[in-house]
Amino acid sequence: MREGLLKKIESREIVAGVVGLGYVGLPLAVEKAKAGFKTIGFDIQSSKVDMINEGHNYIGDVVDSDLAELVKRGTLSATSDFSFIKDVDFVAICVPTPLDEHQEPDISYVRDSTIAVSRYLKKGAMVVLESTTYPGTTEELMKPILEEGSGLKCGKDFYLGFSPERVDPGNLIYKTKNTPKVVGAIGEDAAAVISAMYRVVLEGDVHTVSSPSVAEMEKILENTYRNINIGLVNELGRLCYEMGISIWEVIEAAKTKPYGFQAFYPGPGLGGHCIPLDPYYLTWKAREYGFHTTLIENSMVINDGQPKYCVERAMHILNRQKKAINGSKILMLGVAYKNDIDDYRESPAIRVLKELKKVGADVQYYDPWVSEFKNMYGESGKSIAELTPEAVAEYDLIMVTAAHHNVNYKMVQENAKAIFDTKNVMIDIKDRSNIEVL
Ligand SMILES: NC(=O)c1ccc[n+]([C@@H]2O[C@H](COP(=O)([O-])OP(=O)(O)OC[C@H]3O[C@@H](n4cnc5c(N)ncnc54)[C@H](O)[C@@H]3O)[C@@H](O)[C@H]2O)c1
Repeated sequence: MREGLLKKIESREIVAGVVGLGYVGLPLAVEKAKAGFKTIGFDIQSSKVDMINEGHNYIGDVVDSDLAELVKRGTLSATSDFSFIKDVDFVAICVPTPLDEHQEPDISYVRDSTIAVSRYLKKGAMVVLESTTYPGTTEELMKPILEEGSGLKCGKDFYLGFSPERVDPGNLIYKTKNTPKVVGAIGEDAAAVISAMYRVVLEGDVHTVSSPSVAEMEKILENTYRNINIGLVNELGRLCYEMGISIWEVIEAAKTKPYGFQAFYPGPGLGGHCIPLDPYYLTWKAREYGFHTTLIENSMVINDGQPKYCVERAMHILNRQKKAINGSKILMLGVAYKNDIDDYRESPAIRVLKELKKVGADVQYYDPWVSEFKNMYGESGKSIAELTPEAVAEYDLIMVTAAHHNVNYKMVQENAKAIFDTKNVMIDIKDRSNIEVL
């Protein structure tokens, strides 16, 4: 099976399938199609399927003309009909891995999509999970479902592995195509064929590890590393404020050390579908072993407290103007979870907005990337249409909550009564008389 698959990969005879056509899945499907593989995308959202089949792109990191051209050529198509899995030789699963209302892993998307794949799994196929999850998901959850649903034997009739997705939406240098990949699979043959497939599709190195669990844990390490380091600067930032020291200046100084230090920055909290959620997958799994991930949990306490801390600081700024936060007009600049993207999942800015409303502020937002939002917690909002000098002057406080580059911050500074810059995005503006930084 191994040699046959390697030959088919080399000659592009493999049909590639991507399950879940979101921020991760669609760029991956496009890369596979660009590498010369007939590619079928699967998604339960018919609106996404229709858009792809009409040649319309909806993900920032995908080039519109690439997608349109691949669809026109017939290399890329999409469907909600899982029976087409029977034609697919390489299935990558890229479905969401969120938390439920008790902050516990919601693995239902992985389970449901694996069940759907198992019903039509082809003998000799490769299956790879790319969603971020707890160590053990591929072997303990997916393998039995695939074997039972298909009647096939893992390692003999099909190959199974895990390869974490590392895409960083909005990153102008590292995209799906040139970011190195890690692959962990069940058995050496599986690792060899799955790695071979990524090698021909992507430009970055492929690093193979001994099992899916190592690859699953590796991804959690990457994201927990960020979570903890952000927790550290958020905690130090609060202390620095009390001590009258600028945390931003401290970080700039620390950055001059050429080894042993990587800069992370404070902010209104953690956002996105990864960094705030993934450590919970690990802490949940750790409990099975009677293990408490105390450092990670402490970091999450600090990061989760940032939105409220930002509101407290806003309260002090208004207080100095002899204004109560209750009834004050506040404009937030940015609800996306980070700069220059339209993704607002788990955005800390939306939590700040909610906290501001709780204390009675009359709050609105402007975001050139997010004209309106509606999240899974039932929260919604609409951006003010235009950021004019007159609009800025109307508010008691302008709060910068995303460091978008396409905002005229100089104009904001010139017209605002007071500014609370939680991202230090106004660092280069000389007149600091109305600016306070987190
Ligand atoms: N977004 C990122 O920056 C990023 C980076 C690295 C890793 N990840 C991980 O990748 C995974 C996917 O994240 P995303 O941001 O692409 O999510 P997303 O919500 O943008 O896309 C997921 C897609 O899966 C579809 N889907 C859900 N259930 C399905 C099913 N049963 N069958 C077929 N399709 C189904 C949804 O309709 C959606 O289109 C997550 O585990 C995430 O943690 C995300």
